[in-house]
Amino acid sequence: MEFTRKPWAEPYKIKVVEPLKVTDREYREKCMQEAGYNTFLLRSEDVYIDLLTDSGTNAMSDYQWAGMMLGDEAYAGSKNFYYLEENVQKYYGYKYLVPTHQGRGAEHMLSQALIKPGMYVPGNMYFTTTRLHQELAGGTFVDVIIDEAHDSACDHPFKGNVDLNKFENLINKVGADKVAYITVGATVNMAGGQPVSMANIKAVSELAHKNGIKVVLDATRAMENAYFIQQREEGYQNKTMQEILREFASYSDAATMSGKKDLLVNIGGFVAVNDWDVFEELRNMVVVYEGLHTYGGLAGRDMEAMARGMEEAIQDDYMASRINQVAYLGNILNDAGVPIVWPVGGHAVFLDAKRFYDHIPQEQYPAQALAADLYIASGVRGMERGIVSAGRNKETGEEYKPKLELVRLTIPRRVYTQSHLDVTAYNVIELFKNRHQAKGLKMVYEPKYLRFFQARFERM
Ligand code: F0G
Repeated sequence: MEFTRKPWAEPYKIKVVEPLKVTDREYREKCMQEAGYNTFLLRSEDVYIDLLTDSGTNAMSDYQWAGMMLGDEAYAGSKNFYYLEENVQKYYGYKYLVPTHQGRGAEHMLSQALIKPGMYVPGNMYFTTTRLHQELAGGTFVDVIIDEAHDSACDHPFKGNVDLNKFENLINKVGADKVAYITVGATVNMAGGQPVSMANIKAVSELAHKNGIKVVLDATRAMENAYFIQQREEGYQNKTMQEILREFASYSDAATMSGKKDLLVNIGGFVAVNDWDVFEELRNMVVVYEGLHTYGGLAGRDMEAMARGMEEAIQDDYMASRINQVAYLGNILNDAGVPIVWPVGGHAVFLDAKRFYDHIPQEQYPAQALAADLYIASGVRGMERGIVSAGRNKETGEEYKPKLELVRLTIPRRVYTQSHLDVTAYNVIELFKNRHQAKGLKMVYEPKYLRFFQARFERM
């Protein structure tokens, strides 16, 4: 065999395996019907390759599992908390830490602490739970991401960037005192896992601080973002991920974190701040909603696993394998002519359902239908990220119609092999060849909050 390029392999090997169930099409058709054509309502045991999410689906290392045995389960002052606090200070640079059970716990408390009813919260594209917590606190989310982010085919290296003009226009329109803070998500999940450049967050920080506005980083996938900066931004090629992450976070005043992504654990999160007054408020609130401020809804062992995951995830060779595994799947699909969000993002390959099922109107939920069809055809589970996820305008009650109508094939960290991705690619390409037979869906049950999780559908 002649190699066309130097081969590459994961910087880890497998110690424990979990068997997968292989099912047939007829069985999956029945499962999907019972699940109301919503992949969130399937039983995991009926899924062959699970690309629903990269959240909490990570494989932990022996180092992390060993740390689990060192869980200090004291109610107060667990040593695992202090270790986690030390690592957050070391890798992200924030002064104060409040652990939470996961990201939305952090979003809930920070939103309640900083938003007063009637305030605006700009951000680089909405995220479902983030926006809902801002709204529940009385705020209004305003999208200030660059236009390129809403175009699935536009080849921009930092599609997650904030549009400084949009941000400045909002400040001028409503007044700086009505802007609670700006959230910078990095990478931007709903845009396709697209990164934010260092130059951009620096400029955002300058503009925000000049107007007395705080910058809140959604640090959920900020380590993946750091890798893209190292690869794509002038002046960062010779910097380590660790150096890049520290600089990136230094332009923000606080962070909310879902440790279930970057930090290689199955549960956990935190909110971290530099401001003592905000910390005081959060520390008061956490005992009401999550638990004491030295555990925040987590077991000691979970905090230990998260602190150790941080040390592993910041390694350059690990992150190169992570990002390149996602790119591997994306490149196969792109080469086969399957429409995907381009460039390939950090945590997932996003199928563009508007172009994939161009005969199904957005009101008939093409991405929801595509996710269901892919499961039925192959047992591969993805997630809708389009009109269903976008939900309704809180004032008018009308459905948002996002430009991006996507199915996310999310890659769990250190879980699947290249062969699993080959099988996935093969099945997506087969489905693409038969795309004209596909039919849309109608929604028959719609929950009040975050409808995509539990909504039910029927075939048109
Ligand atoms: N922010 C971002 C960018 C996220 O992707 C998520 C979760 C959260 C906040 C909330 O964190 O789930 O720990 O409460 N995203 C998951 C996903 C659910 O599948 O993308 P959480």
